[in-house]
Amino acid sequence: MKNTITPIDYELVMPDDDFISSKTNIKDILTYVNPLFIEYSGYKESELLGQQHNIIRHPDMPRVIFKLLWETIRNNREFNGYIKNLAKDGSYYWVFTNVAPSFSSDNELLGYYSVRRKPDAEKLNYIKNIYVDLLEIEQQSSAKEAIDNSLYKLNTILNGREKGYDEFILTI
Ligand SMILES: Cc1cc2nc3c(=O)[nH]c(=O)nc-3n(C[C@H](O)[C@H](O)[C@H](O)COP(=O)(O)O)c2cc1C
Repeated sequence: MKNTITPIDYELVMPDDDFISSKTNIKDILTYVNPLFIEYSGYKESELLGQQHNIIRHPDMPRVIFKLLWETIRNNREFNGYIKNLAKDGSYYWVFTNVAPSFSSDNELLGYYSVRRKPDAEKLNYIKNIYVDLLEIEQQSSAKEAIDNSLYKLNTILNGREKGYDEFILTI
């Protein structure tokens, strides 16, 4: 479901000890949300379960970050990253998220699991600047070239640090 919420300039700041978690099936459909997911997103549990995870996608997020997220988890690795989420009333909340694939005892992919906590303020400031640049590139590019151009820019930043995205995120 693509949402049509108008974002507002109001931030919900997570306290240090909150964890927001969710589970999806292999098709990205929400199958579980914890009480804090419900609280921050502003939806009822019944409005969330059965919906796609992009129900909380914020338009300020560069598409390339979600491309990396899906590439990583589809390769059976866990993804770590900073995400700006959109609540039902248009407000936003930044999270540091870990998304991981979940397997049965005989190694069958069951779905995906994610846990989010409050991002470190200094690291988040650094990330915000990068996201502004990536979003601008994506908006100025044709739909076909947007992700490639944005990925090129991100790789330029990462290559300057001689790190992959995962290592970069965990060590900034
Ligand atoms: C377990 C799991 C957790 C996710 N958490 C978020 C999240 O907190 N915020 C978000 O915008 N996307 C999250 N995503 C990514 C969404 O599936 C989706 O790719 C993203 O919102 C971009 O949506 P779009 O491709 O329709 O633009 C998560 C995906 C999975 C599998």
